[in-house]
Amino acid sequence: MSSSGVVSLQNPKPFLKWVGGKTQLISEIDQLINKIIDEENFCYIEPFVGGGAVLFHILNQFNNIENIVINDINHNLVNAYREIQKNPLELIDLLLDIETNYYTLKNREEKANFYLAKREIFNRFNDYSLEKIALLLFLNKTCFNGLYRVNKKGKFNVPFGQYKKPNICDKNNLISVHHYLQKVKVLQGDFEETLKYAIKPSIFYLDPPYKPINLTSSFTSYSEQIFDDNEQIRLKKFCDEIHRQGNYFILSNSDVKNYDHSNNFFDELYKQYNIKRVKVRRNINSKGNKRGEIFELLITNF
Ligand SMILES: C[S@@+](CC[C@H](N)C(=O)[O-])C[C@H]1O[C@@H](n2cnc3c(N)ncnc32)[C@H](O)[C@@H]1O
Repeated sequence: MSSSGVVSLQNPKPFLKWVGGKTQLISEIDQLINKIIDEENFCYIEPFVGGGAVLFHILNQFNNIENIVINDINHNLVNAYREIQKNPLELIDLLLDIETNYYTLKNREEKANFYLAKREIFNRFNDYSLEKIALLLFLNKTCFNGLYRVNKKGKFNVPFGQYKKPNICDKNNLISVHHYLQKVKVLQGDFEETLKYAIKPSIFYLDPPYKPINLTSSFTSYSEQIFDDNEQIRLKKFCDEIHRQGNYFILSNSDVKNYDHSNNFFDELYKQYNIKRVKVRRNINSKGNKRGEIFELLITNF
């Protein structure tokens, strides 16, 4: 609170860790958006929002964008966005309770057991509930690498992580996110459904589940459905439609050439668009302990 008694909001940031977070690509994406941002009635659409690294950057940086639409296929994730948008206070209370209990636990074994008990409860809820959202945020902050992975039955199965004092309830951020989400339309469903929300000129930022770059990385499944090559081809047709309707798109994806130089999958698929290779540092094996420099793709129609 400032001396005038007015609560000042911090800049909102992702309230969940999410695999594929785009922090390292943001300055490139920023430059691209700046190229076209001076157009009027600009609409920003993010069909695979995940943890929203780019969304929150946009909300901080471009306060003249009034129409913002986000979407994800993951029900639990979208329910969390919607609840925080509507009323974060009850959620904060629930999370503070969990956090207080967690901090009193003495050792790793007690914490791991607590985590597994909460994971079990999380998987027992079938539908939406406020408690389930609080558990999602707790599990995300305490699980291995902040992964969201489910088995074939859709049950969350990530093991316990190794964090000394995870920030389970970041109250100020949740309040800030609540305020900034007021101008955002939050959808749950398949990416194709977002096209009908486009108001010309719209910019789509597309960050689909990555095409597995090696065998071990294919274990990262955000939902029961797998995003295979046919899905990548369906996404390309979606990009064609965005383009045909006079809108803009920026698509990021893994570069299959990191591991197989002769693989031309994306170069062929997107040959009529601009493909830029950007160097990033990533965990490059499933244990998350091996980091290396690899390239990612940024594909645009402008
Ligand atoms: C690479 S992640 C996005 C990461 C995000 N850019 C971030 O910063 O956290 C891909 C997202 O696509 C979602 N997804 C998978 N298949 C989808 C589909 N058919 N339609 C919409 N979203 C989908 C997943 O649930 C996941 O959240």
